[in-house]
Amino acid sequence: MTSILQCMDCERQYRTDTVIYTCDDCGGLLDVVHDLDALRSLVSRELFDSRLGSLDFPYNSGVWRYKELVYPDAPDDLIVSRPEGSTNLYPVPRLAKWAGVGTLYLKHEGENPTGSFKDRGMTGGVTQARILGKHSVACASTGNTSASLAAYAAWANLRGIVLFQNKQVALGKLAQAIAYGATCIRVNADFDKNLALVREISAELDIYVLNSVNPFRLEGQKTIMIEMLQQLRWRVPDWVVCPGGNLGNSSAFGKALRELYDLGLIDRLPRLAIIQAEGANPLYRAYQRGFDRLEPMHAETIATAIKIGSPVNYPKAVRALRWTDGVVEQVSDQEIMEAKALIDGVGIGCEPASGCSLAGIRKLVENGTIKPQETVVGVLTGHVLKDPDATIDYHADRIPNLRAVCPNRPIEAEGTLDDLRRVLSTPIPTAT
Ligand code: F0G
Repeated sequence: MTSILQCMDCERQYRTDTVIYTCDDCGGLLDVVHDLDALRSLVSRELFDSRLGSLDFPYNSGVWRYKELVYPDAPDDLIVSRPEGSTNLYPVPRLAKWAGVGTLYLKHEGENPTGSFKDRGMTGGVTQARILGKHSVACASTGNTSASLAAYAAWANLRGIVLFQNKQVALGKLAQAIAYGATCIRVNADFDKNLALVREISAELDIYVLNSVNPFRLEGQKTIMIEMLQQLRWRVPDWVVCPGGNLGNSSAFGKALRELYDLGLIDRLPRLAIIQAEGANPLYRAYQRGFDRLEPMHAETIATAIKIGSPVNYPKAVRALRWTDGVVEQVSDQEIMEAKALIDGVGIGCEPASGCSLAGIRKLVENGTIKPQETVVGVLTGHVLKDPDATIDYHADRIPNLRAVCPNRPIEAEGTLDDLRRVLSTPIPTAT
């Protein structure tokens, strides 16, 4: 069974061992296309269920459990896995009530080995780097991709190179990339410029690019959807809601859902809702104009992970929205941080960008798009420890133009029982 690379626009095909990210003819984005006819007789819900809890490599990974749908031809001995995936799907009734829906689950991709969904993509991308015999891998990043690339490159004994924008990289992510030994370059440019730079320098120096323009990354990220559906016993929710930055996840979700449907593993598609920060909302703006075109913009948001003004996967995200009858919404930094604080407050926790999912769900219920009786899955993309400054500054109520709704301020006490009694006699405020 052979998968191929195919341009999403002109359909030109390339072998999977070609080092290529966009079509040579028309510049279109590439898909890894699998032989669905051959797969139809090979994959089943039962096959994937039989691998749950497996102790055997590579099926002990929540990505490679679905190997046939990710990269069927990948030789097992070249797979680079930590292993990733197998993240929790939390029923969250208190947050459902706050958002105004009957049934809400949160799929926590912050529970991956380096604390974000990027690991699901990176296992696919770094495996492909090994198949191609590459020695160096690189990315531009708002932080999580670099943390993940650094870890997977180290694990595979490859050189990892990451380009950060010089400002506003969350502390946890920077620390990870440094710790895992990647070459960390702080560039005086924003994410969008860095991505262009990384693509150019990689072509020149024979470095493999592992941003989400790389279609093998998206194959790994598809498994967020597959695993979520398996956890729901293949009962399809009405909505899947996720943050949108470079739009890799949204693109991967669309492809996964479409393939699962074509393979008969699910009987209908959920609707996809992509949520952007108001200050980094090029997809939302294009959506408002009927997707006439993408207008790159200067991006600003407290959710630094999604501070992206020119999302590379825009055409694939639009395709995913069309396939799933999807919608795009925007939320303010205030709404993002409030939603994050509520997710943190039920004991799950996430980084700011993930707050988009819950904030977006509430907004879509308020404006009548999501109906109260519908079943909704929100995707949390990063771990609470990724951006400690944002959390601490929020609860100290010292973020400009933003108000902490239910701040949890550390309390000073003398080292005496009397003082502790004084402190503990104050009632605890509750947010939900
Ligand atoms: N949430 C988090 C925590 C992220 O790190 C990102 C992207 C997104 C959401 C958006 O996902 O790009 O697939 O739409 N972070 C990238 C990075 C850009 O460099 O780490 P997307």
